[in-house]
Amino acid sequence: MRRGSLIQLSALGLIAAAIAIAVALLVPWLPPAAGKEAERIHFVFWFTTAICIGVFSVVASVLTYSIWKFRVKSDDMSDGPPTHGHTKLEIVWPEVPAVLVTAISIVSAVVLAQNGNAGPNPLIVKVTAVQFAWTFTYPNGKSYGYLTLPENRHTKLEITSKDVIHSFWVPELSQKQDAVPGQTNPLVVTPTRTGTFPVICTELCGLGHALMRSHVDILTEAKFDTWLKSGGSANAGAPGLAVFQQFGCGGCHTLTAAGAGGKVGPDLDKLKQFAAQAHRGALAAFIKESIVKPDAYIAPGYPPNVMPPNFGAQIPPAQLDQLVQYLASQAK
Ligand code: CUA
Repeated sequence: MRRGSLIQLSALGLIAAAIAIAVALLVPWLPPAAGKEAERIHFVFWFTTAICIGVFSVVASVLTYSIWKFRVKSDDMSDGPPTHGHTKLEIVWPEVPAVLVTAISIVSAVVLAQNGNAGPNPLIVKVTAVQFAWTFTYPNGKSYGYLTLPENRHTKLEITSKDVIHSFWVPELSQKQDAVPGQTNPLVVTPTRTGTFPVICTELCGLGHALMRSHVDILTEAKFDTWLKSGGSANAGAPGLAVFQQFGCGGCHTLTAAGAGGKVGPDLDKLKQFAAQAHRGALAAFIKESIVKPDAYIAPGYPPNVMPPNFGAQIPPAQLDQLVQYLASQAK
């Protein structure tokens, strides 16, 4: 091979690498990590990306060089010369991808093992998915419609579902875990910075899938301890509000007082209007019926069989009364 060709090939390779590196670095592909597991996953991502950029530069430079130098003349109809190939090259080049892929799988296996390790004393939070809401239950038995986590401590989420398959995802924590009925799937998270990040359902689970969202508040350890001892800020308001959040009503319904913006079911800010249209007795009785027997009356413009029929069995009677009172008190 001539020296000039090598220089030209290398120049093409450098140009291809520069373009690929610019695309990799200038586009924000990943949200900034907020957890140790996410940092490790980002490392695997960049490790793999670096290998891909190397392979891309070699392939792109050889391809461009061949098209440029060995292009057939437009009137040349002859066959190319017979070649035997290059035995040494053919032996060497399958080894290169084999080594690279093995390296990626070793790095991935190490990260996977580290990310699954919850340490000796993790905080355990039970995560329950239903169409279309999340419930987070703490060791003291209290439940919330949103997740609160301490910084710099392992938390083991025990994820399950009551109806169909959902999937738990916080982009800043980088991991997804399926919520499967009849099964508990673990997910270890170790937050590294405070903030509020979205909790997203990332498995198509029905009409309200796109709205099946909550959030995670990551607090310093001291603030988290205060939050846990005080029973959580959700209980600072009306007891019915806590029930509303615990059973995830806001996933499907709008209620300004609860900060809920769901659009699947009727807007609960307009509950009095709906009750007047329905002619189904007193407001409280109508609210209770709508929760316990949702298909007894369907508000005009809303499809039947969307509201889960089992809230009557899920919500204890005392809490159900609190919820009914709360919704009646907020109705306009
Ligand atoms: Cu739950 Cu999508």
